[in-house]
Amino acid sequence: VLARLRLAIRRRIAVKLALTLVGFVAVILLVAALYLARSLDALAEDAAEMRLLTAGRLLHDEARELLARGADAGALTAFVGRAARADELRVTLIAVDGRVLADSEVPPAALAGVESHAGRPEVVAALAAGRGRDLRLSATVKAPLLYVALPVLDEGRPLGVLRLALPVATVTASHEEIRRVLLAGGILALAVALGIALFVARRIARPAVVMQEVARAMADGNFRVRAPVRSPDEIGALGRSLNALAERLRTRLEDLQHEQAKGAALLDGMVEGVIAVDGHDHVVLMNERARAMFDLGAAPGDREPILEVIRNADLHRVLRTSRAAGEGIVSRGELSLAGPVERVLQVNAVPLRLGPDEVGVVMVVHDVTELRRLERVRTEFVANVSHELRTPLTAVHGYLETLLGGALEEPEHARRFLEIVFRHTERLGRLLSDLTDLSNIELGKVTLRPAPVRLGEIVDSVFAINRPRADAGSVALSADIAPGAAVVHADLDRLVQILINLVDNAIKYTAPGGQVAVTARRDEDRVEIAVRDTGVGIPPADLPRITERFYRVDRARSRELGGTGLGLAIVKHLVIAHGGTLAIDSAPGQGTTVRFTLAAGDPGAVP
Ligand SMILES: Nc1ncnc2c1ncn2[C@@H]1O[C@H](COP(=O)(O)OP(=O)(O)O)[C@@H](O)[C@H]1O
Ligand SMILES: [Mg+2]
Repeated sequence: VLARLRLAIRRRIAVKLALTLVGFVAVILLVAALYLARSLDALAEDAAEMRLLTAGRLLHDEARELLARGADAGALTAFVGRAARADELRVTLIAVDGRVLADSEVPPAALAGVESHAGRPEVVAALAAGRGRDLRLSATVKAPLLYVALPVLDEGRPLGVLRLALPVATVTASHEEIRRVLLAGGILALAVALGIALFVARRIARPAVVMQEVARAMADGNFRVRAPVRSPDEIGALGRSLNALAERLRTRLEDLQHEQAKGAALLDGMVEGVIAVDGHDHVVLMNERARAMFDLGAAPGDREPILEVIRNADLHRVLRTSRAAGEGIVSRGELSLAGPVERVLQVNAVPLRLGPDEVGVVMVVHDVTELRRLERVRTEFVANVSHELRTPLTAVHGYLETLLGGALEEPEHARRFLEIVFRHTERLGRLLSDLTDLSNIELGKVTLRPAPVRLGEIVDSVFAINRPRADAGSVALSADIAPGAAVVHADLDRLVQILINLVDNAIKYTAPGGQVAVTARRDEDRVEIAVRDTGVGIPPADLPRITERFYRVDRARSRELGGTGLGLAIVKHLVIAHGGTLAIDSAPGQGTTVRFTLAAGDPGAVP
């Protein structure tokens, strides 16, 4: 309990202060009381001495007369007895040699047994200096007595010593009252002092307590708290400093958070994925892009091992290589992710110094899937072009060789061979013109001159061009253009090119007896044109790639039919150049529908 109390006191500044103050007051009171008591005692003694001296002087002459005439013991005893009674004192008459001649407290018969008083301090002083005083415990009456002694002189010659004594108690009795009053006053003073001290201490300690709460709130991260300070003293200054500190910390923290948010936003806004790991291969940073690239749903937890977050052996190889390489050296690697979406990622890794002996790695990841795909498409395209060119060229070369080798002289063969050569050169021409078209469109060299054109007229002219082939293949052609779709806003020549290609395909890939229909309908401010056939259709596996250059379902058949494999690629580019979209629906054996959209035109503006 005591220890707890001590702890409670030591923990409370107000209690400490109050106790200190009260302690001071108590010490001062004690010192004052002691001093007062001592003064009172001295005062009482002095007063008693004066009384005894006065009484002694009054008795002096009678004592001298008695001693001078050598009065007997009886007379002397009567004298001291009378004197003692009159003044309520003890009176003793002592001979110069110290013998007690008479004592008011000792019966005459016992006087012989009383020891010599020659050595008593007051007696010695009286004989030497004319008066003596001593305060001591009386051996005879067993109480503290104040003794005053006077020499009994007869013309300067000492006859004896007259001693008077008074119990101190009779003097100090009146002091009891004063003491009680003093004690009560002291206690009251202490109580008042305690009250005042507590009040003052609380006043002083309260702001300290409040500030302590403020400081604790700040430690908990709340920098919006403020200490209520008004006083201009040190505590007020402390409070103001605390407030200033809180404000500074708050702004710093805000700046920091702002910076951090900026950094995070910057990182997340990057096209590149960024991953940083510490010396133990734990993720310290991973931006949104990186998470998307590796198909990580949620953000990885803080300091999760990269090995567990991304399970890719190539990535870890790059990481190891980078850590082994010196600072500032970029290690590169390429990863292919099988994943839900196939991806090719290029990783550039640089060691990252995080501490005196901690080297992390920062990796910047680029998604090069599209780049690699384009590279592949280009090489394939070059290979395709040379292949497509070589076939007719080889044929031309072969037939010409045969002709030159003698067949020229055989008219029946010569004509046929030349016709074949002619067909192949025609094909070469078509191929080159398609390639030129395509590259011009891709390079943006083709400038469209869109104008309102009548769709019906164009479809008619396209049908006219394709009629011979349709008739030859017994394919029926039909057109159905909705009233609202009569006019489109397009480049006339290019629209013809698109439709020739689509109608040509539809006829080519439709068996005899089939139908090819061109329809158009208005959809808000656009017109959707569909070329539908009842032909062989396109297998679903080929559908996504059907608009790629040279992509054909059946290469040999397409070539046989005079195709180049570039028609749909050209169509797609032209539609896109017009700001439209192209969609192909097909079911093998049932037919194909190719739809594309164009901007609707103003019928009134057609020339
Ligand atoms: N209407 C269609 N019906 C079936 N298959 C088609 C149709 N249109 C295009 N295709 C397929 O798409 C391929 C590519 O067409 P295209 O680029 O016009 O080349 P080409 O007509 O020279 O063969 C064709 O070889 C054919 O396999
Ligand atoms: Mg074609």
